Amino acid sequence: MKTRINRRTFVATASAGVGLGALSGQSLLAQTGAPQILIPTSAKPVVVAAANGNQSKDAEGLTCVARAFQMITAGRDVLDAVIAGVNIVELDPEDTSVGYGGLPNAEGVVQLDASVMHGPLKRAGAVAAIQGVRTPSLVAQKVMQETDHHLIVGLDAQKFARSMGFKIEPDLITEKARQLWLEWKRRTDPGHYLDPKTRAEAGHRAGLAMVADGLIDPDHYYGTINCNGVSAKGEVCGVTTTSGLAWKIPGRVGDSPILGAGLYVDGEVGAAGSTGRGEANLFGLISFLIVEGMRHGLTPKDAGMAAMKRVVANTVEKRLLNQRGKPNFNVTYYIVNKSGDHAGVALYGQSGKNPVRYALCTENGPSTPTVEALLPGTAED
Ligand code: GLY
Repeated sequence: MKTRINRRTFVATASAGVGLGALSGQSLLAQTGAPQILIPTSAKPVVVAAANGNQSKDAEGLTCVARAFQMITAGRDVLDAVIAGVNIVELDPEDTSVGYGGLPNAEGVVQLDASVMHGPLKRAGAVAAIQGVRTPSLVAQKVMQETDHHLIVGLDAQKFARSMGFKIEPDLITEKARQLWLEWKRRTDPGHYLDPKTRAEAGHRAGLAMVADGLIDPDHYYGTINCNGVSAKGEVCGVTTTSGLAWKIPGRVGDSPILGAGLYVDGEVGAAGSTGRGEANLFGLISFLIVEGMRHGLTPKDAGMAAMKRVVANTVEKRLLNQRGKPNFNVTYYIVNKSGDHAGVALYGQSGKNPVRYALCTENGPSTPTVEALLPGTAED
């Protein structure tokens, strides 16, 4: 896309934030009447995220997607912007799927995963099973910026964070998360008499029952936030951060910190990231698959739908199938291409009685549209 636009006006637009983003190059030109120059390859700035990207708010009342969009249209680095967005969610103790306040593992310890990818720089960083740092996305960014590596895990991720100046806290569990963990223990382990397999199945059943009982938001059981942004120059970056599967086996790492699974960004193409059952996503490297679909010319929605079919095809174990013979879990993807086209795509469009949504911010402001779904109904039907 090429737009005739006055350079001074373009710079002003890029730094003026959300409001001016709605003006097209032509309408700006009509306003200024100034000489024209060609600005190559512009895009529609956009930010997409999981639905919790439009829930937690910062001190100025901005949600994750609104904060990231404001920073992107002000000309800030797109990765800095999407990380600043997810930091709002990581720091919110009420969001039990991400960062501080995230639900703990089976031993009551909060272990966090995060990854970042910078499209223009073609760099990435991630941490897995890190304890004691509220904002793992910022530690992942330090792995990208300060090391030759892409992934640091466990206690050594915490040591790395300490060396980078992060505050290390002895325990990130909040009272709310601790009470929920105790309830899960009460339901699954009353007498220490179950064999490990039965106990693991009972643990999963109890977790799902707590979702059904309304104790845990369904989106927070495998809860996560992914956030991807595109600037007016077509720069694409993304971040995914999570406390992972609630009550997971200690040390379990999900899809979020794995490049190609919980997040994939190609600066020449676009970005995709996920929430939902990480194991399904790890098995098929679905975020990578979506970006490759877009590389071959598919729209974000069509690339997402094609990838959903792969998830269905890969899901053959009986324990993972519902009575219709389809996956008994959901996965949702947040997708942008370099031009700023976007989509939220899921296996199922319903979660309980509620439609599955994603968070979006464009020049029209933040919104929470429903996703496009491959299959009717819910994962439990
Ligand atoms: N998608 C988050 C997880 O499975 O850990």
